[in-house]
Amino acid sequence: MTEIQKSLKDFGVVPVIVIEDPKDAKPLCQALIDGGLPVAEITLRTDCALEAITKASEVDGMLVGAGTVLNATHAKQTIEAGAQFLVSPGLDKDSVCVAQKSAIPLIPGTTTATEIQMAWNYGLRMVKFFPAELSGGAKAVKGLSAVFRDMQFFPTGGISEANLADYYSCPAVQVCGGSWIAPEKLIAAGDFGKIEKRAKDAVTLVQKTREALS
Ligand code: 3PG
Repeated sequence: MTEIQKSLKDFGVVPVIVIEDPKDAKPLCQALIDGGLPVAEITLRTDCALEAITKASEVDGMLVGAGTVLNATHAKQTIEAGAQFLVSPGLDKDSVCVAQKSAIPLIPGTTTATEIQMAWNYGLRMVKFFPAELSGGAKAVKGLSAVFRDMQFFPTGGISEANLADYYSCPAVQVCGGSWIAPEKLIAAGDFGKIEKRAKDAVTLVQKTREALS
């Protein structure tokens, strides 16, 4: 487990970001920092995503990752832009190789035992479980983690305040991803106050859930 992965586990939730205007990157990061959740996975789903990653990476105290990394080129570009961790919707060996050469953690999307086993054989010990709710949810993660005992799971896709605790009840889950904290609409509307509030609520929920499970 790398230091970055340890930080992700400490945060407990990672806001998944779609950003349409790079000028929103810094205020978004500031809102997350002010909300006590200085981490973001900025997805490569918009033309300005690389620029947004660069700008977000300039914000002190922010842990910035890149999401929707589909191939080796994306991996190289996002690392050059300053991403400190990479997330993919699926498992792509070339992207994994690029990340490993740069000593940057890449968390690939997996849902099946075969995919998780491939990731394990690439030397990875943290995988995204995606799309989590559609792929069997917390029950599926529990079943898979019973076999892959040294694998950490990062469920994403359909996670919200309502079901976060279900995932946390699996010891192999210490961090989840989701768009509910900073949805595209709030970013585009410049409603950073609401994003700060949602970040604060998410931090509180993570703390309470961990206390209840300990
Ligand atoms: C994504 O990559 O968009 C994540 O899976 C977020 O999913 P969510 O919008 O269901 O949180």
